[in-house]
Amino acid sequence: MIKIVEVGPRDGLQNETEIIPSDTKVAFVNALSESGVSEIEVSAFVSPKRIPQLKDASIVFKNIQRKKRVIYSALVPNSKGLERAVNAGANKISVFTAASETFNQKNINTSVEGSMERFRPVVRRAGNLGLPVRGYISTAFWCAFEGKISPRAVLGVAQRLMDMGMDELSISDTIGKASPDEVGMLMDVLLSKIPAERIAVHFHDTYGRGIDNILRSVSYGIQIVDASVGGLGGCPFAPGATGNVATEAVVAALIKAGEKVAVDTERLMRAREMLDPYIPAKPDVLPPPDSPACSLCEFFDGKKCCGSMAEGKPQIGPTL
Ligand code: HMG
Ligand code: MG
Repeated sequence: MIKIVEVGPRDGLQNETEIIPSDTKVAFVNALSESGVSEIEVSAFVSPKRIPQLKDASIVFKNIQRKKRVIYSALVPNSKGLERAVNAGANKISVFTAASETFNQKNINTSVEGSMERFRPVVRRAGNLGLPVRGYISTAFWCAFEGKISPRAVLGVAQRLMDMGMDELSISDTIGKASPDEVGMLMDVLLSKIPAERIAVHFHDTYGRGIDNILRSVSYGIQIVDASVGGLGGCPFAPGATGNVATEAVVAALIKAGEKVAVDTERLMRAREMLDPYIPAKPDVLPPPDSPACSLCEFFDGKKCCGSMAEGKPQIGPTL
C-alpha cells in the first residue's frame, strides 16, 4: 500500500499572497481527512515574517477535527517551532534542510552544517516526547542557484540526518526539474545505505515530470509519496518553482500502474473546492519535457528561457 502525504495545507498555501481565513484552512484539512490520505502536513511553525500565510498554524491545528488513522504533521525549523508545534498538538514534525548551501541560506538563513546544529536539540526533544521526525532534503536534484546537485552530496546530508535519529527522509525536487533517470541515479546511491521504507519522495511539477518521477521511485520500493491536491504550492525562496505534483493525479497514476492506494479522488477534489474563492484553479502552462529552460528566467510567462542553466552557468537569483 502506498502512503500518500498530503502537503497542500502547508506547501500548497505557503506561497499564496492572499491570506486565506483560518476557518477555511480548517475546513480544507477536515475535508482532506475524509479522503483516505495517511498524513496531512497541516501547517508550518516558522517565522511569521518569512511566511505570513501560515502565521495561524496554532489556530488551525487547534480547530481541526482529527481522524484516528490520520497523522497531522507540521514543519518545524528550530526549537522555538517545536515548542509551538507541541503546544498545538502536532502528531509528527518535519525539519528541513537542503543539499545546496545557497538555497539553505535563502530558505532558513543558515548553512547545511548550521541546520544540523539547530536540529539536534529538536530531534532529541521530539524523541523524548515520542513524536516521529521527518527530515526534508530540498534541492536533492537541482538547485535554482547552484544548478545540478550530485547524488553523493544528497547521500552525505541523508546519512547525517539518519544518524541524528530521523524516522523518515523526504527527498525533495524543490524546483521540479528532475528527470526519471536522475531519480533512478539518486535512488541507486541512497538505497545502498538507507532502507526504502524510510524514504519519502516530494516532487514539484514544474516540468510535468512529477508523476513519472514518482513511478520511477516506486519501482525502487519507495512507498511514501508527498503530493498536494490540485497541484497547489511552491517555495517562496526557490524562484521559478511551481506546485507539488497533484495528489489526484498521483493517486490515479499509481492505481493505473497496479499499486494499492486507498484515497478517494472525488473527496480530494471536494477539499480543493474549499479554496476556490481564494485560489481559483488555473491550468498550468508547462514547458516541453526536454526543455533546457532554467528556473530563473521568465519562461513561464511565455518568454524565451535565458538558457543559463543549460550552459552550465549557475545564476544567483533575486535577493530575498
Ligand atoms: P532566523 O532569522 O535565522 O532566526 O530565521 P532567528 O532565530 O534569528 O529569528 C528571527 C526572528 O524570527 C525572531 O523574531 C524569532 O523570534 C522569530 P524577532 O525577534 O525578529 O521578532 N522566529 C520564529 N518565530 C516563530 N516561530 C519560529 C521562529 N523561529 C524564529 N519557529 C528561520 C530562521 C528558519 C526561523 C526563518 O528563516 C524561517 O522561518 N524561514 C522560513 C522557511 C520556510 O518556511 N520556507 C518554506 C518551507 S521549506 C519548503 O517549502 C521546501 C519543502 O517543501 C521541500 C522542497 O520542496 O524542497 C519542505
Ligand atoms: Mg516542497
